[in-house]
Amino acid sequence: LPKEHSLMIEAHELLAKFYHHLLLNTNEGAEALDYLLKRGFTKENIQNFRVGYSLPGWDFAVKYLENRGFSHEIMEKAGLISVREKDGSYFDRFRDRLMFPLHDSKGRIVAFSARALTEENQPKYLNTPETVLFNKSSLLYNYYNARSHIRKQGNVVLFEGFADVISADSAGVKNGVAVMGTALTEKHVQLLNRLTNSVTLCFDSDSAGEEAAYRSGLLLANYAIDINVAIMPDKLDPDDYIRKYGPEKFRENVIGNAQTWMAYKLHYFRKGKNLQNEGEKLSYIERALVEINELENPVERELYLRQLSEEFSLSLETLIEQQSLLSGSKFKKQQKKIEQRNTLQPKKKNQ
Ligand code: UTP
Ligand code: MN
Ligand code: MN
Ligand code: MN
Ligand code: MN
Repeated sequence: LPKEHSLMIEAHELLAKFYHHLLLNTNEGAEALDYLLKRGFTKENIQNFRVGYSLPGWDFAVKYLENRGFSHEIMEKAGLISVREKDGSYFDRFRDRLMFPLHDSKGRIVAFSARALTEENQPKYLNTPETVLFNKSSLLYNYYNARSHIRKQGNVVLFEGFADVISADSAGVKNGVAVMGTALTEKHVQLLNRLTNSVTLCFDSDSAGEEAAYRSGLLLANYAIDINVAIMPDKLDPDDYIRKYGPEKFRENVIGNAQTWMAYKLHYFRKGKNLQNEGEKLSYIERALVEINELENPVERELYLRQLSEEFSLSLETLIEQQSLLSGSKFKKQQKKIEQRNTLQPKKKNQ
């Protein structure tokens, strides 16, 4: 490891330790601590995830690291401070925020994500920018800590956010990791693939989350990973759900009841469709038939065909006939159309 990199890591470790101390043991951190406790975080959560608090001042980290012999160059390269254009002086990137240390896959702190304590303070989460050590698209939150649990359980639960991972951990779901507001990437999948070939997607149940679950599932499917998708009612996210319904319901009704990837795709394709409308109904049935046709397992294929048959009062024979039509010459054209229709769908806003 180049000297520069180990210094950057050391700077993060020192700051993380101090932010953590500020949060737990000082008057300056009392309001932030209160916020976390009111949200339902426990002291144990805060300790396990080494959550901290950064002071409102402009140069706390600058001074703290200066006093320990770090150069401004290292601090800036680490993404901890920024430079003022007008006079070249330095100021802290993270001020008056909850600090979540981000560990790389070797357990070293390489970045922070910092949550605002009020709505007015935007963005909600401020992250370390891309650095030589930190790349959002190749880091999964809690990967290092969750590794042994993922191996033991033969499954990983993939969340959208920090709060979800932390709440789930205290609800006894310790094999959770999170992407950080980005799409799941090939690099993320490779990290997961080292540990398990079974992924439970547990994204927020708003339309952004459902969209993300679909995209993530498509990517995971390319790696022949077994996918399940957990769904919550009322557009809740996992953290909200656990606060509202408790850990047991979360483990049993959400994680334990996660749908198969096929069932989720069917749920996804009918979203926003009016199945009373003949055209929309037909296009949904066709789409479902194309998807079901791709299943390798004949038992599964029949299972979903039967569901479709019951739901729309169509005979199995008719469905199978339609399926073979679709997989004939007409099939490729149709499939293309369907794919276009899908990718052309306007992106829905969050919520
Ligand atoms: P969410 O908006 O779902 O946040 O974004 P959350 O995890 O539920 O957070 P709380 O409960 O309000 O505290 C999901 C994830 O997207 C990233 C964060 O990693 C967040 O956990 N994100 C979100 C950002 O990086 N920046 C933002 O401004 C918002
Ligand atoms: Mn969300
Ligand atoms: Mn959320
Ligand atoms: Mn949340
Ligand atoms: Mn839904």
